[in-house]
Amino acid sequence: MLEKHRVFITRPIPEEILSKLEGICDVEMWHTSETPAPTTEKIPELDGLLTYGHEPITDEMMASAPNLKVISNMGVGYDHIDTVAAKSRGIKVGNTPGVLSDTTADMTFALLLSIARNVVPSNRFVRSEKWTFYDPNIFWGQEIHHATIGIVGMGRIGYAVAKRALGFDMKVLYFKRNRRVDWEESLGIEYATLDRLLESSDFVTLHPPMSTETHHLIGRKELKMMKPNAILVNIARGGVVDHDALYDALVNGEIAGAALDVTEPEPINTNHPLLSLDNILICPHLGSATVQTRMKMAQMAHDNLISGLNGDPLPYSVFEP
Ligand code: DGY
Repeated sequence: MLEKHRVFITRPIPEEILSKLEGICDVEMWHTSETPAPTTEKIPELDGLLTYGHEPITDEMMASAPNLKVISNMGVGYDHIDTVAAKSRGIKVGNTPGVLSDTTADMTFALLLSIARNVVPSNRFVRSEKWTFYDPNIFWGQEIHHATIGIVGMGRIGYAVAKRALGFDMKVLYFKRNRRVDWEESLGIEYATLDRLLESSDFVTLHPPMSTETHHLIGRKELKMMKPNAILVNIARGGVVDHDALYDALVNGEIAGAALDVTEPEPINTNHPLLSLDNILICPHLGSATVQTRMKMAQMAHDNLISGLNGDPLPYSVFEP
């Protein structure tokens, strides 16, 4: 009898997809989020790895895995995987682009609307029984419609955010390394340098991939350039924003508020001073977390894994070695 491929999954994936994999592979799945998945221990024996989460997958780990054929990431961002090492070792890497763009753009707007209109603190106010009379002078927020939004990183998610912003009659500026004149024409959005975008936007939303170039892309200097009424939304990677600089900017009124779906590190340290502020909203990395999207991502990650194990091209490939 042929031996089954050995596969490790770093976080629980939907049952339906897991059982498909179990039908054809020898699968071990890490069931707890309390400690990091023991990938380093498991990897030497593996033919395939399905990563769901952001623990680093290093060259050293790959070096210990002579049979590893494929790393299938259930997520679009793959900055935690050393793809240069994978390529040089002939290990295929796949991800799940596209299906989560609209979902993440929805969450961007959920964050933007919530922080601009005080949804979370006002809910807390009602629940703590402080709402004793109708007070028209509480929780004044910032106008969203007809405001200017600056989108940093104009890939699939940035594009989906722009479409939603246009529905709110917002003026849309975007910054991207390679300009998209086609999108400027089709959507009616405007390219801006990062400096101009920061100076002119009421809302700045961040969607670039994580890289050495984008690490602390928004730091002290950039925050000082923003308007005092501006709101910053980060749904990309925590490392894109310098949190110490953000804390100072929020305390000193350099910007009005921030909403983070991602932090550096994750989870954010519970003693972090950002958590003491009222003008910040922090969510635990929920960008693509809907029932429907997570199912689609799981199916794509499954398809990549199986193709890689069979030596076939990955349907959703980061690169082919
Ligand atoms: C993504 O898809 O990159 C999300 O951040 C989850 O990893």
